[in-house]
Parts: sequence; structure tokens; C-alpha cells
Amino acid sequence: MPFTVKDKVLLSSGIEMPVIANGSWAPPTGNARAEVRDWTLTALKAGYRHIDTALGYGTEKSVGLAIKESGLKREDVFITTKLPYTDHSRVQDSFNESLTNLGVDYIDLYLVHWPQCIASEDADGTLKLASSITFVEVWAQMEKIFEGKKAKAIGVSNFSIKNLEILLKSAKIVPAVNQVELHPYLAQNELKQYCKDKGIIIEAYTPSGYSKVRSDPVIQNIAKKLEATPNQVILAWHLFKETVIVPKSANEERQRENLNLPVLSKEDVEQIDALDHGERICNKPDQNGLVWGWTMEQLGW
Ligand SMILES: NC(=O)c1ccc[n+]([C@@H]2O[C@H](COP(=O)([O-])OP(=O)(O)OC[C@H]3O[C@@H](n4cnc5c(N)ncnc54)[C@H](OP(=O)(O)O)[C@@H]3O)[C@@H](O)[C@H]2O)c1
Repeated sequence: MPFTVKDKVLLSSGIEMPVIANGSWAPPTGNARAEVRDWTLTALKAGYRHIDTALGYGTEKSVGLAIKESGLKREDVFITTKLPYTDHSRVQDSFNESLTNLGVDYIDLYLVHWPQCIASEDADGTLKLASSITFVEVWAQMEKIFEGKKAKAIGVSNFSIKNLEILLKSAKIVPAVNQVELHPYLAQNELKQYCKDKGIIIEAYTPSGYSKVRSDPVIQNIAKKLEATPNQVILAWHLFKETVIVPKSANEERQRENLNLPVLSKEDVEQIDALDHGERICNKPDQNGLVWGWTMEQLGW
């Protein structure tokens, strides 16, 4: 059954998660991270009940303020945040920092942001890997947080089948969610099926594929036919395929647009399915073939 924007999915930990979130990544420039407060507030007013943030985005405080200002009850907003790759040796402290930043006493979904552990980042952006700690050890710390009941579900992000296989060998708790880049040019069908078989919910970040996918003639033609925008068509494709999505808009009108999706036909969906060619658009390898310090082989991508 295709999802509708008002649906929720049941996570393996027993809680329900709204199938559409508004993201909250913002660049570390000017006032951008403080402005997340304003546009998270318009998102909550528009009807979003799931906000995706991360300690690494520097936007948790803004998200927390917006939720308070919205007047909504804490339990009416689902908050996802993430353990940074620089904090793998201080999981509990980093989690407490997130609670303080958000001004809440529990997190709905806490994710390991990346499998790799980064020891430090030079001024020029060069990352130094920390080899002494593995994501298997980090996951054991995540399990302790879940047992402490201050995270209602725990999961991972940017994990491949290869790394999930390693994790699951020693995990006591199966990750509830795997948040990955997923859009029409990167449909992740194999990973989706693997996660489904293990009871892990796949969540799509960069669900639009940005203007690159929005401007694809197939998307443009379907949008024209349905009198919808390309972004609406792409988000509708995700929901048709029962994928939880984390789009981001800082614009009130586009936030509302992303909640008002057209109904696609089976033929529309098949045409969009055919666009998949495994292209990463958000997190792609740099000139050294690395994504945040790891090779594609290490990532299992
Ligand atoms: N786990 C991870 O490693 C990871 C990585 C990347 C992202 N994320 C999460 O996923 C969230 C979303 O990622 P993303 O920003 O890459 O996703 P996205 O929603 O695919 O792309 C956002 C871009 O699309 C534009 N947009 C949104 N709605 C639109 C519409 N209806 N028409 C035209 N343009 C539209 C936005 O501009 P406006 O804001 O101006 O509308 C923005 O430039 C992030 O904020 C973050 O929370 C997680």
C-alpha cells in the first residue's frame, strides 16, 4: 500500500514514526543555523511532526526552540538526531549534549551518523581517521543508551549491506532505521530489500536528488501532466514505494507543497524507476575517492 504523508510506520522498538520529516541541515555560514528555528517553526505549523537534525549540523538548539515555540506537546513531535563521526569514543556524553541542545529529556530516534570514526578534522577539512574504535563497539554503546530509555529507538545512517552484516553479527538490538541517500538516480533497491528482510526501516535523505533529478525530462513530463511540481512528483514516487522520506525546505510555500503530493499511476512509477543508475549526488567520493575519510570499499558502496 502506498504511503500518504499522514502515515506513520511502526519501528522494531515499538514506536511509530511519521513517514515524512523536514530536514534541518544548514551551512555553518552567517545566520543560517539560527534561521533553522524560523523554518522549523513554519514546518511544524504546516503539519510536519517529524524533524530530522544532528549534533553535527549545529542546528539542534534551533530545532528545540522551534518545537517549544510551536506550542506542540513534546510527544506530538518525533525528533531524530545523530551521533557525529567525531564522537564515537564519547557516545553517552555526545547523546547528553544532544538532549541539552534540544532541551528535551528523550530522543525518539538516535542514529549513528556514519560508520567511520574520525579522530580530528584539520582547518583545511582533512580528516584523520581513528582506527582504534569500530562501529561494532559504537553500536554496543548505542544499545546502552536505548536500555537507558532516553532514546525510544536507535538506528544507523549511511550503512551498506556489507557494514550491516558486520554490525548484525554482534548486535543485541537490530537497528530500527537506516537513513541513506535515496532518490530516482540512486534507488538502493538491493539495500532496501535487505533492510526490509531484517526489519530495518529505510529512510531516504536527499530524496529529491536536487535540481539534477528535478530537471530530468521524465520527471518534468510527469509533473506537467499532473499539474504538479517536479519535487512533488519525486516525493510521491517515494511514498508510492513505501519509503520514509526526509526532504528539507526552508521555504514555507515549498514545505506545504511537499505535504500535498499528487497520485502517480503505475506507469509513472515505472518510468521513474527506470531512471536509477546508482548515482550519488549528495555524498559522493572526493578527488581522492573518499567520502568523509573512507573509501567506497570501506563504506561498502
Ligand atoms: N544522514 C545523512 O548523512 C544525511 C545527509 C544529507 C541530508 N540529511 C538529512 O536530510 C535532509 C534533507 O536532505 P537534502 O536537503 O539533501 O534533501 P532534499 O529535500 O532532496 O533537497 C533540499 C533542496 O531542495 C529544495 N526544495 C525543497 N522542496 C522543494 C520544492 N518543492 N521545489 C523545489 N525545490 C525544493 C530545497 O530548497 P528550499 O529549502 O529553498 O526549499 C533545498 O535546496 C537534511 O536537511 C538532513 O536533515 C542526512
